[in-house]
Amino acid sequence: MSPFALTRTLPPDATTAALRADVAIGLTRTPKELPPKWFYDARGSELFDEITRLPEYYPTRAEREILHARAGEIAEVVRPRTLVELGSGSSDKTRHLLRALPSIDHYVPVDVSESALTGGAETLLAERPELTVHALVADFQYGLALPAVPGPRVLAFLGGTIGNLRPAERAVFLATVRSGLAPGDAFLLGTDLVKDERTLVAAYDDAAGVTAAFNKNVLSVVNRELGADFDHDDFDHVALWDAREEWIEMRLRARSPVIVKVPALDLAVHFAAGEELRTEISAKFRQERVYAELATAGLEPVRWWTDPEGRFALSLSVPVSLTA
Ligand code: SAH
Ligand code: AVI
Repeated sequence: MSPFALTRTLPPDATTAALRADVAIGLTRTPKELPPKWFYDARGSELFDEITRLPEYYPTRAEREILHARAGEIAEVVRPRTLVELGSGSSDKTRHLLRALPSIDHYVPVDVSESALTGGAETLLAERPELTVHALVADFQYGLALPAVPGPRVLAFLGGTIGNLRPAERAVFLATVRSGLAPGDAFLLGTDLVKDERTLVAAYDDAAGVTAAFNKNVLSVVNRELGADFDHDDFDHVALWDAREEWIEMRLRARSPVIVKVPALDLAVHFAAGEELRTEISAKFRQERVYAELATAGLEPVRWWTDPEGRFALSLSVPVSLTA
């Protein structure tokens, strides 16, 4: 078998159809909103990788520290043959897992960004040519059909990406994860933790303006795919901490009244001066909430690790047996 295969579970025009639906609904409602998965075309994936290297953006470094120190301990719970990684992006942290878990010989990265998937897989295969990689271009929120791979499996969801889902979406997502796990498998989850507002806001509003460019990239995606005429200069990047919900919100705020045409939908979208388009939530967690959400999904946490500064957490869970 070839060491690299790529499967698209989305038909070729599904992405545009889904974007059309999200834009038609999200830009005609109040408040205006678009799901964060639309950030990640090739340019958006590059910008995200740039974000991970910013001095203000601590989550990637904190999670890497934990993986570096603790990944070997995963073997106390599971001896995986396969690593399935959801929202794998450039698979940068994956190498720590592979190094610490030599029993893994199959890797299944799953992402909506084909460019990130292929780039990440190439780099990993150059380091680990014996690895069988089956990359999946798929939306992890809808109908995850994983290829047949040998167990036991570790299913990893790193980076704090679970925080980009709303609580109800997280419940559905975690239930889907649980239903995909067999006895002997495990779920490795990265969650960013609640901390002081200054640190949080700086991580989403960096001095170099990379996060602002990432936020505005969603406008370029809508322009390219649906022929819209968004102008980046008409909008300001906004990042704010919602202390009640315990999440960061990213928004794009119209600098003056703007009318944006979206020809593919025969739509003209009116923004009042100061009107905002919400582009992302990034929830921050406390251990109790992570445990409660895992328990509701039928997952039992058996390990909880944080970095020495307590900024980020990795948890390892096993499926609760329904017959016990
Ligand atoms: N896990 C990596 C990348 C995080 S960035 C890290 O920890 O650094 C989030 C990744 O999830 C991006 O690569 C993005 O393309 C992907 N993603 C976002 N929403 C998605 C969805 N609904 N389905 C599949 N992939 C998604
Ligand atoms: C992918 N996800 C966890 C990132 C986050 O921190 O919520 C996306 C991001 N948005 C702005 N900066 C990074």
